[in-house]
This record gives sequence, C-alpha cells and structure tokens, in this order.
Amino acid sequence: MTGTALPQACPYGDAVDLDRYPINEPASPAYRALVQTCRDQLGRHGAAQLTGFLTPAAVSQMLALAGRLAGQAWASDQAHTVYFEPADDSEGPDHPRALLQHSAKKAIACDQIPAAAPIRRLYESDDLTGFLAAVLGKPVLYRSADPLDALEIAIFGHGDELGWHFDNSEFSVTVMYQQSQAGGHFDYCPRLRGEHGENYPGVQQILHGGTGGVLRLPASPGTLAVFRGQHALHRVTPVSGPRPRINSVLTYGEHPGMRLTELTQKLFYGRTA
Ligand SMILES: [Fe+2]
Repeated sequence: MTGTALPQACPYGDAVDLDRYPINEPASPAYRALVQTCRDQLGRHGAAQLTGFLTPAAVSQMLALAGRLAGQAWASDQAHTVYFEPADDSEGPDHPRALLQHSAKKAIACDQIPAAAPIRRLYESDDLTGFLAAVLGKPVLYRSADPLDALEIAIFGHGDELGWHFDNSEFSVTVMYQQSQAGGHFDYCPRLRGEHGENYPGVQQILHGGTGGVLRLPASPGTLAVFRGQHALHRVTPVSGPRPRINSVLTYGEHPGMRLTELTQKLFYGRTA
C-alpha cells in the first residue's frame, strides 16, 4: 500500500502568528499582500514593523531563556564614531568624523541559544529567509555562517545604550522581547545621508542634540522589524531602571558563508569560534 505523505508540521508554527503573518504560504494572496505592505513601509519610512509577529508564548519562552543565559552574556563597552572608523579630527574636534559615541550591551551568542528555542527554529527556517528576501527585493538572502553572530540575544541593562551610528550593512532584522522600564528607545533619522553625500552638517546637528527629523520607533514585545540603517543615523537611548531591554538580532547577507573577523567576534562576544 502506498501512503500519502502527511503534511510536515511547521517547525516554528507555535512561535509565529501565522494567521496574521502567513510566511509559510508564499504562493498565497495573503503572503503577497503582506510582502507589499512591508515594502511600502520600508520605502516610506526606511523601516517595516510586524507587530505581534512572535506569539506571546514564544516571547515568554525567550525571556525565560535570556534570564537563564544572562550570566554568560558578554558585556561590550566601546567608544566609536558614527561611521565605526577611527576618530579623525583633521577637520576639527567637532566634526562628525571626530566625535565619539558610546555603546554598551550584553550579548548572548548564537551557539549559546538552544536549537529548540523559538527564535532559532524561526531563524533557521527557509520560510523566514525567503520572506525577508521578498520584502527587501533581493533574489536571494543567506543566513550568516558565523557561529556567534548569526543570531544574538542582546540585553541592555541600566546604563547600556547604542550610540548614534550608521550601519555598515544595508539592513538589519530584529525581534523585540521586552522593553526597558525607561529609556531604551530606538531613534532614527531616515535618509540623513545618501546619494547626495555624507551631509556632515546634518549629522553634526543631531550629535549636538538636535531633534529635527528624528523619529522614534516604538516596538512592542513580539515585533519583528526590518530596518535600513545604512543611510539613517540611529541609536538606542540609554536604558534606566531594573528591567532590561531584550531583543534578538538576526543576521543575513547576500552571499553565503558570511562571518565576522576574529577581532569583531572578540569585541562583541569575548571569544572566537
Ligand atoms: Fe545599527
């Protein structure tokens, strides 16, 4: 007797609100509409936000996991320019290339996150990778091959922050688990630099506390966000209070085999792998 193959259970089906976000049905009209909505948001604001993407149960599991692993997280604390290049004061001490920003956080590396954790089952699915490629208008995307940096849980405790910066990568993907009690806001200035150049006066104005053109992107627990950070200056404001801000960063590239250098692995994870 020949059996009919049973449909495979979706390996992340418990972790994602698939009724609202059917990333497992790429041939469906609902999928195409979702991709279009995200592309519109990205085009208009430089960011697409899928609120309630992760189920509340998966968020709770990730918070419990982050609590268990927090003691093993690597704390990094560094001064850097908004360009992540060595400070250069040849144009004066007040130039954006000279001004130093402060970033501090704790990172749980991919190889510390159990394979059964909701975020790993989701990250390792080709459905999510394919969906993000469609949203970003790429023919194909690859998950990072870095054993530490491919998928991270970032914990921002009291005093932690990400200083103003432009990303080196074209886009980033994050999933929010918990907002901090105070601070920990994601602020950004869309299209502050671009084809028209570096716009140093505009950058300088923000670094001196200017708020013109600065947007704040609220992210409730469970939100998946896709952000274009190469031309948008952005930061996470300092966290205060006992409840940390906790999220995951999911790393992708346009070429297979992407890895950090050993130097960068040591900086963000305290070791090489
Ligand atoms: Fe960034």
